Amino acid sequence: MTEFKQRIFSGVQPSGNLTLGNYLGAIRNWVALQRIYESIFCVVDLHAITVWQDPETLRDATREVAAGLIACGIDPAECIIFNQSQVPGHAELAWIFNCVARMGWLNRMTQFKEKAGKNRERASVGLYVYPDLMAADIMLYKATHVPVGADQKQHLELTRDIAQKFNSDYGVDFFPLVEPLILKDTGRVMSLRDGSAKMSKSDPSENSRINLTDDRDTIAKKIRKARTDSEPIPSDLPGLEGRPEAKNLINIFAALSDQAGEDICKEYGGQGFAAFKKDLAELSVSVLGPITQEMKRLCDEKTFVDQVLKEGSEKAGAISEPILKTVHNIVGFLQ
Ligand code: TYM
Repeated sequence: MTEFKQRIFSGVQPSGNLTLGNYLGAIRNWVALQRIYESIFCVVDLHAITVWQDPETLRDATREVAAGLIACGIDPAECIIFNQSQVPGHAELAWIFNCVARMGWLNRMTQFKEKAGKNRERASVGLYVYPDLMAADIMLYKATHVPVGADQKQHLELTRDIAQKFNSDYGVDFFPLVEPLILKDTGRVMSLRDGSAKMSKSDPSENSRINLTDDRDTIAKKIRKARTDSEPIPSDLPGLEGRPEAKNLINIFAALSDQAGEDICKEYGGQGFAAFKKDLAELSVSVLGPITQEMKRLCDEKTFVDQVLKEGSEKAGAISEPILKTVHNIVGFLQ
């Protein structure tokens, strides 16, 4: 009997550098899960253009993100890696979901409010319906689990609402209700400059994040400059409460060294941050250095990366086509 593997789908935008937040919050988990689940990972270029992207930069970033995923340990022989626009079913199912989702649901999406800012009238319509496209990405493969950072949780709740409404509107039991897979301590890696803000590739301050393309000196400098408070490191986890910057650095240290936060606190408890930061910089370089190097090497192998994305798209297309065909049938489209 063949073993039934459940399916995961996840995506990352090619709209800037991959950050330590992407790595510790999502990609690292994808690497761990890729052999447990049937895995589909997508470079979501259709999502990226909800905000203006220079075409040449978008092409390069798409390849760079794909190279980054492979360099982090995603194995193209084991799972599917592709870019979204090569599988037209994403845009097509998104349209159907635009007709299922309600305005009121989208009006509640906090990420739209954050990204559109004060000037909502001038945001693209694509940015507003972005969560419908994200739901379509997942449902196009009837994926059951989605490993993401905590910032995507609300979008996954919307995905469940859309799936449920589709099923009930058409009287079918077709789309599954997805489960988010969010890592406990690194589901939300915070900015190095502000413990209340998420580490983000769109933060105007370069010092707020570590990019997977940063060299050794840049990483060391950013960690040295990372904001902390004036108290010493506490010797247990409860001592980190109310100290978001310290907590973030301890969480990053724990994740990169595969240790419990409690043990890091025990080791550095009572000290100031200088020695800890020095060790964190070294640890970061030792984990990220080989990834950066491999990413650079792959970025020079454009043909290889393009081939991975093309083959991935063909495999993704083969899984999604019969699903989309059934959706057409359920909705009442002649075929
Ligand atoms: P994106 O490109 O912003 O981020 C990719 C993944 O990285 C996670 N992440 C973080 N995790 C922890 N701490 C952080 N500071 C941090 N920053 C980013 C994100 O949560 C995400 O998991 N909408 C998605 C892309 C997408 C998608 C999908 C994801 C499109 N379709 C379908 C899952 C399923 C996004 O903008 O991710």
